[in-house]
Amino acid sequence: MLDVNGLSIEVNGKRIVEESSFVVPRGKITSIIGESGSGKSMTVATLLGLLPAGAKATGQALYNGRNLITLSDKEMASIRKSAVFTIFQDAANSFNSSVKMGRQLYAFSGERTGATVAQFRMEMAVILADLGLSSDIFEQYPFELSGGMLQRCMIACALYVKPDLLIADEPTSALDMVLQKEFIKLLKRLNEELGTTILLITHDLDIVAEAAHEMVVMQQGVVVETGAVKQVFEQPQHSYTKRLLESRF
Ligand SMILES: Nc1ncnc2c1ncn2[C@@H]1O[C@H](COP(=O)(O)OP(=O)(O)OP(=O)(O)O)[C@@H](O)[C@H]1O
Ligand SMILES: [Mg+2]
Repeated sequence: MLDVNGLSIEVNGKRIVEESSFVVPRGKITSIIGESGSGKSMTVATLLGLLPAGAKATGQALYNGRNLITLSDKEMASIRKSAVFTIFQDAANSFNSSVKMGRQLYAFSGERTGATVAQFRMEMAVILADLGLSSDIFEQYPFELSGGMLQRCMIACALYVKPDLLIADEPTSALDMVLQKEFIKLLKRLNEELGTTILLITHDLDIVAEAAHEMVVMQQGVVVETGAVKQVFEQPQHSYTKRLLESRF
């Protein structure tokens, strides 16, 4: 589905990602793991066409055969709107604090699929109930909900949109352990029930072990290892991966 080949990213002339290559196979959960500053979020930004000013990407990132790096802003916006759904680190900040949740959930999901508000509310209420949330939240503001509830709202939108590709950049780092576990379970459910392809960015090996099928290890802007999670955990090839795994216990 996604085939990244020789992707390099420069910010203001400084190389921050160097010739990185990896694949995100359809129907699987692929995790990018690496230390802070290793270029994970910039890689995601490239895939979404959302690089900051002054940044430039070269190489290939083929999404269903189209190179995302050379697409126009308009084409990228259309892919972001129709095929890809993104969950960022801090769900609370993804919502506008002065707008009721009903309208925002609709903007994130129902509007994309072209549903009417009435139709959307009916369908979304079922999804929310399934996630342990009451449809009363339609009338509430984000600050009236907890971080975990807001994160579940993002998942509800993903369940509604059924995206071709879900990208989650450190989705659990603002959550406590119990909520992290719950969130990972929901991601797995999305993958198992709907077959959603997921790219999960994390710096937590436990999350990789728990959720991912495939993994990509990044160190200082370089992809140092890729492979099936089980295989990499059992037989890491690169010294950095070995160190990461050793530091786990
Ligand atoms: N907007 C920006 N302008 C300039 N440099 C940036 C910008 N965003 C990130 N960088 C630099 O790019 C490099 C990679 O950052 P990136 O955010 O991709 O790391 P990361 O792997 O996502 O880290 P973390 O785990 O902390 O989220 C870092 O050296 C960072 O300083
Ligand atoms: Mg990041």
